[in-house]
Amino acid sequence: MNTKTLKELLREADEGGYAINAFNFTDVWDMLSIVEAAEEEKAPVILMAHPENFSQESLGMCGAMALQAAREASVPVILHLDHSNSIDVCKAAVDYGFPSVMIDASSQPLAENIRRVKAVVDYAHSAGVHVEAEMGRIKGGGIEGGYYGNDFLAQVSDCVALVEETGVDCLAVGIGTAHGFYTEKPELNFKRLEEINNAVSVPLVLHGGTGVPREDVQKGIKLGLNKINVGTCIAATYMNSMRDELVKFGDNAFTIDIVGPVKERIKAVVKEWIGVCMSAGKA
Ligand code: 13P
Repeated sequence: MNTKTLKELLREADEGGYAINAFNFTDVWDMLSIVEAAEEEKAPVILMAHPENFSQESLGMCGAMALQAAREASVPVILHLDHSNSIDVCKAAVDYGFPSVMIDASSQPLAENIRRVKAVVDYAHSAGVHVEAEMGRIKGGGIEGGYYGNDFLAQVSDCVALVEETGVDCLAVGIGTAHGFYTEKPELNFKRLEEINNAVSVPLVLHGGTGVPREDVQKGIKLGLNKINVGTCIAATYMNSMRDELVKFGDNAFTIDIVGPVKERIKAVVKEWIGVCMSAGKA
């Protein structure tokens, strides 16, 4: 069982020149695939529950399942609430025992972003819970929310103000990545990433990992990214392999008849990302 906090894991990643992978999960099968792949690669990993899931399963149930998986795992597994724009949902996650939450108020003006982050930080820190905020915008759509404008780039002075005024633990930065599949090659603003990293001391987070080329992710890690978020390629692999196995099996399958090969395909994607983030053997 893991006894390290996310703060410690991110510090070790920063010192060791790698990043911690954070994967979105929806249910027990993709969650277990992520944990098993991390165990086989001896990599620390973050399991991200997205608020969209809670329309179909409760926050508490989703959290309890992942917390139990973390207790049973042979590598550090940290449960994280991804992209909540609700202070109340963040507080509820803290109450359910999530060790890490994200309050995403990046669509708000700076002062309101700071107010919301501070409200979550005050509550979360009193329970020893790690908090991520966001500055700038992650482009694209999908369940992570949509932003299609051009004003996505995180401003250095805004990042400094948010970190200093809230005491937030880590910061997602809009530097050109998008949620979902890319329709054209992503153009990451490495200069801005470096400027932000020089200006703030907290670990930086890349969202929209799916489809970002390996060399760009690794360049970003050198310039200060310590947590890399990946979701779409996990969901697509899960659903596409489920379809393939169902077609192969025919009618009237039980979940357990088809889930073995499905898990193996998700695990292959997770392992590839662990390779990209250079976190194998770091557990
Ligand atoms: P992708 O779905 O584009 O990989 O992004 C995931 C993410 O950033 C979750 O916060």
